[in-house]
Amino acid sequence: MLYNFKDPIYEVEELILEIDKRNKRTYAVQIYRQIRTKILNGEIAAGERLPASRVLADEVGVSRNTVVNAYEMLIAEGFAYSITGSGVYVLQGAILSEERKIANYTVDAFAVEDVDATAIRFDSGTPALEFFPRAKWKKYLSQAYLQAPISALGYDLPQGRPELRSVLARHLKKTRGISCDSEQILITSGTKQGLNLLAKVLIGQGDEVLIEEVTNDNVRRIFAYHTDRITPVELDAEGIRTDKLPPDALPSLIFVTPMHQFPMGGTLSIQRRLELVRYAQEKGCYIAEDDYDSEFCYTGFPPRSLYELDAERVIYIGTFSKTMFPSLRLGYLVLPPALAERFREMKRLNDHHSNSMNQLALMRFIESGDLARHIGRMKKRYKDRRDTLLSLLTKYFPQNKTVGEKAGMHVVSAFPGVNFEEKLLDKIRAAGVYVIPVEAHTLVKGNHRDELILGYAHLDEEAMEQGLKIIKDILTENE
Ligand SMILES: Cc1ncc(COP(=O)(O)O)c(C=O)c1O
Repeated sequence: MLYNFKDPIYEVEELILEIDKRNKRTYAVQIYRQIRTKILNGEIAAGERLPASRVLADEVGVSRNTVVNAYEMLIAEGFAYSITGSGVYVLQGAILSEERKIANYTVDAFAVEDVDATAIRFDSGTPALEFFPRAKWKKYLSQAYLQAPISALGYDLPQGRPELRSVLARHLKKTRGISCDSEQILITSGTKQGLNLLAKVLIGQGDEVLIEEVTNDNVRRIFAYHTDRITPVELDAEGIRTDKLPPDALPSLIFVTPMHQFPMGGTLSIQRRLELVRYAQEKGCYIAEDDYDSEFCYTGFPPRSLYELDAERVIYIGTFSKTMFPSLRLGYLVLPPALAERFREMKRLNDHHSNSMNQLALMRFIESGDLARHIGRMKKRYKDRRDTLLSLLTKYFPQNKTVGEKAGMHVVSAFPGVNFEEKLLDKIRAAGVYVIPVEAHTLVKGNHRDELILGYAHLDEEAMEQGLKIIKDILTENE
């Protein structure tokens, strides 16, 4: 369908947008991408005002919110800026002309992005990537390349750049109340690498590892390379049941997600956190605390970390995959001082160190307050998206019980009487919707067959509704 926008009031003379209703990409993304291409091709010039959102929405036949979302993406990417009461203007300056220069070859080079973009994916941990301030990141990255000491181009410190570790130590104190020395921090290439290092340093064959009975299956798989003694511990709505910790076991490690249990969403009370730490003290073992998404806590402040209760015994694991973007591959461990040297050596043997330029750019991104601002904006957006998903679930699946909505980027919804076995999931996938059942992340099979993990942070209302409608149709067919 072709829409022709022509209005002499606006400086953009002609804006022809093509909305493809069969395209799985949301309307907002379709509009954003087309306007972006026009800017890059020079069809819309710097300084020109884009049509008012309401007007464009009418012309194109979408909701005003959709156009507002598309404009916000353009603004977040540095293609446009907004003047209150006046409108949205195409940005003038270096960013635009540099983007234009690279546009010709980037389009094809990154065509692979489109393969996945056609499906509606309720993935649990994908941020709203279109709102990541790429222009700012580019600025910090080029500053890092131009200004970093020569040493930063050579083999660098396994534990990570000292500048980043000091800024991160301050950031953790401010945002999570975590007191640590920058020497305790080891910069990793994300949580998965952190867990691999942890397993290599702390787990020998035959050692026992306690993990929550439902947990990210990658975690189980990583530990399973090192030992065949992985013991699940029962969960309830709060998280790990400390009264079910095996009294006679002698574990080397306990892995937990106490802030926001993955994927079930519980938060461990202070009583249980204390019981867990006491248990580890009694057994002489370590606790790995995976704090993967507590930056997005929608009810006041996130609870204090386990790390604070025993800094000698708890390894705190953080990631920038959710607050920045997953392909950055940067995360960190806060280590008990006694372990720091062994972890550095293991990191050195693995990949020597994580990318120094990315580390330096990240340091500036944190120091400038841009990270905090980005998190603040995303928190608001994710909360709105969570509310939208909850109300759509009530509309299409009123019988469902949904949990885990107080924080993070996903919820778990139980569909009474449904068994999300492979055949049914294949049918849903064939219709263009990707969902992961909780059952895929269980150690004890059979108790979570009717539950789906529904990530919402990266999906707008149209995509969520379309996705849920498709699931609804297939479930109705299946009855
Ligand atoms: C429980 C949990 N921890 C951590 C992560 C982040 O992993 P990484 O830092 O390797 O991207 C995820 C990703 O979805 C997760 O589900």
